[in-house]
Order: sequence, then C-alpha cells, then structure tokens
Amino acid sequence: MYVFGGSKSVGLAWDVSKALKADVGKTAVKTFPDGEKHVMVNSNVSGSECILIQSVKSNDDLVELMLMIDCLKDLGAHQVHTVMPYLAYMRQDKVFSHGEALSAKTILKVFDELSDSVTTINCHFLNEGGDAVYNNIGFRNLNAIPDIVDYFGKKLGNPFFVAPDKGSLAFAKTAAHQLDCEFDHLSKTRLSGSEVEIEMKDMNVKGLDVVILDDIISTGGTIVESAKVVRKGRPASINVGCVHGLFLNGIEIFKGSVDCLVATDSIENPVSKVSCMDAIVEEFKR
Ligand code: R5P
Repeated sequence: MYVFGGSKSVGLAWDVSKALKADVGKTAVKTFPDGEKHVMVNSNVSGSECILIQSVKSNDDLVELMLMIDCLKDLGAHQVHTVMPYLAYMRQDKVFSHGEALSAKTILKVFDELSDSVTTINCHFLNEGGDAVYNNIGFRNLNAIPDIVDYFGKKLGNPFFVAPDKGSLAFAKTAAHQLDCEFDHLSKTRLSGSEVEIEMKDMNVKGLDVVILDDIISTGGTIVESAKVVRKGRPASINVGCVHGLFLNGIEIFKGSVDCLVATDSIENPVSKVSCMDAIVEEFKR
C-alpha cells in the first residue's frame, strides 16, 4: 500500500504512511508560468492500493488532486482512496437562489467519479462522522472534534463548551457529553462575508474556562466577535478549537482576545496542535 500526499498535506500523509506501515508515494508537482499544474508520480503503483491525502483549500489544490488521482489510475493503481481533510466549496450545499451552482455537489461528484472512495473530515454541511450520502454521492466523513475535545480536556479539566451559533451547536453538545461538562451557544447574525454580530443571551461564564468550538475559522470574524462578547461575562479563560483553520486574516487577529487557539492539521499552520492522523489511520485499518 502507498500513501501519497498532495502539496497541502505532505506532513499528514507522511505520518499516516508511517502509522499504516505503508510506503510513502513519491510525486513532483510544478506550476507552469501560466498557472497550469504539472504532476508527476515517481512510484511504481501498478496493482497497488493507494491512499491519496490532500486538503483542498484553493482551486490549485483541486486541480493538483484531480491530476494526481487520474495519474495513479493511468499508472495501474488497483484502487485510489481520496482523503480530503479539508474540502472547500462545501458551504454551498443548497441552492439558496434559483440559478446558483451547487458547488458541494459538483466537487464531490468529480472526486466520486475519479476515485474508488472519498473521505472527508468534518465536511461543513455534516454534523456527524460516518457514512454520508449527499445527492446520491456516498462518502465517508470523519470527525476530528473528539480529538480537539480531548486536547482541551487534558489542558483544562472541566471546560464550558460554547458554539458561536446554532449551526455549530452539535459540536459543543457532543464535546460536553464527551467530558461530562456543560455547553451552550451564542447567537450569530451574518452581516456580510466578513462581518458578523454575536449576542450572548442568559449565559453565565463567570470564572469558567470557556472553549469556543467551530468547524471552520475562515476570516476569523466569528471567533473574534464571539470572544469579545464572552469576555464581558468574565470567564477564567477563553480558548478556541476548530477543525479547519483557514485563518484568512492570519492568527495575530486573535491575540489579546483569545488565550489559546488550537486547530487540526487538516490545514497545516502554526496552531495545528491536534492531528487528524489517528482518525485517518483508524478509518483505513477498519
Ligand atoms: C459557519 O457556518 C461556520 O461554522 C463558521 O462559523 C464560519 O465559516 C466562520 O467564518 P469566519 O471565520 O469568516 O467568521
């Protein structure tokens, strides 16, 4: 068995290959002056099972991954299992206005057609791990939230989990259940792509170690505003955990308002303190 890593998931793929005692697939990825991608597979994969790990954060990541899967197939790989720890375009999982492209369906369809199996981690429109079917496309969705909760359990003992909005409430609820502690949620109104208004209603956080849990931090607006509001309740500390840290405005914007910021390595960054490796390894040992 080979484990290949796309350019966005090199470290994670290496860790998974070691844990599964699989060979590390060799590739070379280049970008031509016009932006086109050139992908080269340098391992003999004929007849082999391949796991290909690549987070898809940008359109370039998407193209690189498509080329890599098809190349492995052309080289005679027996099976190609595509693992996308972060998969962009999943936020448009419904047609809100007539005429809109349903990006989640299109992107999943492409990878379903190219691969023998598709695995995501905390796909944005799903609240639970396990088998998922969306628009007749079957895939596996792994849940990294328990590993983040474990991290905060060890660090804080008995934290108070807070969801920044009702959409993330399921995460706070399962986290609280995991550590046998309390949870609640804030109310979020989205004003624009980068602006949100957060309200805290009837929530007593005084003296508590608060952990705000979300699946994605994109611009960071949700977390910065949530932390500001929670701070007014005089908690002992404000901690933040997310699966996918996109951090489009950097991590400096959280300084001063957040005491501890933790993400997974679905996107490798300076606060990737929790690894998705175990979730992926367990899945492929299954
Ligand atoms: C929303 O549905 C998500 O769970 C996140 O709350 C959102 O993507 C965060 O976005 P931002 O960091 O830009 O506020």
